[in-house]
Amino acid sequence: MYNLLKGKRGIIFGALDENSIAWKTAERVHAEGGKFVLTNAPIAMRMGKINELAEKTGSEIIPADATNLEDLENLIVKAQEVLGGKLDFVLHSIGMSVNVRKKRHYTDQNYDWTHKGWDVSAVSFHKVMQTLYKQDAMNEWGSIVALTYMAAQRTFPDYNDMADNKAYLESIARSFGYFFGTDKKVRVNTISQSPTPTTAGQGVKGFDGFIAYADKMSPLGNASAQDCADYTVSLFSDLTRKITMQNLFHDGGFSNVGVSNAVMEQFVGEE
Ligand code: NAI
Repeated sequence: MYNLLKGKRGIIFGALDENSIAWKTAERVHAEGGKFVLTNAPIAMRMGKINELAEKTGSEIIPADATNLEDLENLIVKAQEVLGGKLDFVLHSIGMSVNVRKKRHYTDQNYDWTHKGWDVSAVSFHKVMQTLYKQDAMNEWGSIVALTYMAAQRTFPDYNDMADNKAYLESIARSFGYFFGTDKKVRVNTISQSPTPTTAGQGVKGFDGFIAYADKMSPLGNASAQDCADYTVSLFSDLTRKITMQNLFHDGGFSNVGVSNAVMEQFVGEE
């Protein structure tokens, strides 16, 4: 480890179990000397798993529904009290679509569910940043990261309304990134991650085919949750201070490949 986050304070949203990208990130941030508060929706706390992570990393847990402004205000005030100052990093690792969960096809949406999924998966990022901004809770040269998926740019039919939520989320990173950069010297980026076997990932129909295909298409293979944790640490560190308002592909090269030989072989056989 390199002590890249020594003396830095932050909040990590979205660690549900040991497969979660946020879980792996929390462990890696801890190993790099960062201190943080863990948070998740009150219902996710019922699983109790997050207590293990808190113990392991010497962190406090402050529950917050990321769609609820009062919860977020309380979280951000308390996190600064617990950690002893303003924040240097925030990870938004939150996603959920009710249409996906309840297997409603994209062409047959229940719009109450569409609205709920949009609020949880996209607008919550705005709510988190607006609350941080209004409380002036970020230190200069701090870093805010959210996780996204390439379905925001290209169609993956079973990704359903999450594709639209991710497009909205990426846009919020650019729009808020402007104001956070100009006014507070804080950077805001999204990481567009490979398919990853987590609770949220496996909720997508046909996930096994999806992840195997991506792996065969990517010259470096899929990026794992652990790889994502490493990348996020670099974005929280002082080594990436001028990167902002970007959607950063972290996918083993998938996004720039038209077709790979490994995939082509499935159609024509080996030559
Ligand atoms: P996960 O299921 O472990 O994490 C999702 C988290 O969102 C959970 O901890 C859940 O409790 C939390 N959450 C849901 N509703 C919430 C609310 N109202 N308030 C606060 N938290 C809430 O799954 P994963 O994969 O680690 O997801 C993290 C992020 O990575 C998500 O944004 C997801 O879309 C994104 N991502 C995942 C990929 C994958 O294939 N797993 C690929 C690309 C991006």
